Amino acid sequence: MSSTQARIIGTGSYLPARIMTNAEFESRIDTSDAWIRERTGIEQRHVAAEGETTSDLALVAAQRALEAAGVGVSEVDLIVVGTTTPDIIFPSTACLLQHKLGAKDCPAFDVNAACTGFLYALSIAEKFVRTGAARTALVVGAETLTRMLDWNDRGTCVLFGDGAGAVVLRADSQLGVISTHIHADGQYQNLLYNPVGVSAGFKDEPNHGVRVMMSGNEVFRVAVRTLSRIVDETLAANQLSKDSIDWLVPHQANLRIISATAKHLDMPMDRVIVTVNKHGNTSSGSVPLALDHGIRSGLIKPGQLLLLEAFGGGFTWGSALVRL
Ligand code: ACO
Repeated sequence: MSSTQARIIGTGSYLPARIMTNAEFESRIDTSDAWIRERTGIEQRHVAAEGETTSDLALVAAQRALEAAGVGVSEVDLIVVGTTTPDIIFPSTACLLQHKLGAKDCPAFDVNAACTGFLYALSIAEKFVRTGAARTALVVGAETLTRMLDWNDRGTCVLFGDGAGAVVLRADSQLGVISTHIHADGQYQNLLYNPVGVSAGFKDEPNHGVRVMMSGNEVFRVAVRTLSRIVDETLAANQLSKDSIDWLVPHQANLRIISATAKHLDMPMDRVIVTVNKHGNTSSGSVPLALDHGIRSGLIKPGQLLLLEAFGGGFTWGSALVRL
């Protein structure tokens, strides 16, 4: 067994300039700032500019992560991007990002696991690094979710935003990503999905039928249950007690889902990174955005133990235990 570990040595993130507040919805649909805040914790979200694509968001997040890590583009030997909103059908967003970064030759591919995309990408990349197949991996979660919203559906359009986060993973002898756990259960596809695509076909509807279809209440219940299970699984796999975790870095979908997971872990909210109020649900972007915020704001300190988790369409869910 190789003793090579995969450490996170730099993080970065990017949110598009345009901020859309809850108040902006009030004049368009039957909703209110108070309802959105109370039910979700969301105050605002960022919306990509016209022509600004997922790979553009990923590029800035990746450049910031590389700068924080002190790593040059030429050292990157693997790029994995978690996204469910690729720029185009192919080439992958990872290939577009590779070119924009000025990187060459290294493998680059996307992972679609909806909101769990970043944790899937991290889980794959850490195995490349641990086995010696890569030494320096760029792992990104990036989305332009607002492009697939039905702005008349109040049950979904208030929830999502655009954004990207990235980490640089480096082979090291010290512990970093200690364990990752990823799962899926396709039987729930009809609770959260986008109904159209190249193979199933598009529709003669606004935005070609591209929209988020969601049974919010049921998704909420399964998410709370499943996230409790995955944090238990992560602790048990590492023979850790709840109080050994310094920070919970959760998927930022809904403050009530985050609070329920924190409660299950007996963690006070001052040890939970919360950014959902500032950018809504950015799907694959959300965990690395929260991680970067935690690190850059000085909340998360070197050497601390972090539990990252996410849940999303599929259903998919996953976690990572990380020593920073
Ligand atoms: N403004 C005002 N009223 C609304 C809005 C809105 N934006 N959206 C729904 N409502 C109404 C509903 O129509 C319903 O009205 P009714 O009682 O007259 O029928 C009422 O509010 C209650 O609806 P519920 O769906 O029961 O409300 P709930 O408290 O469950 O909150 C929400 C809805 C916020 C979508 C919640 O279920 C949720 O967050 N679910 C998780 C979904 C999620 O996060 N999905 C993202 C991807 S998966 C993931 O990342 C976890």
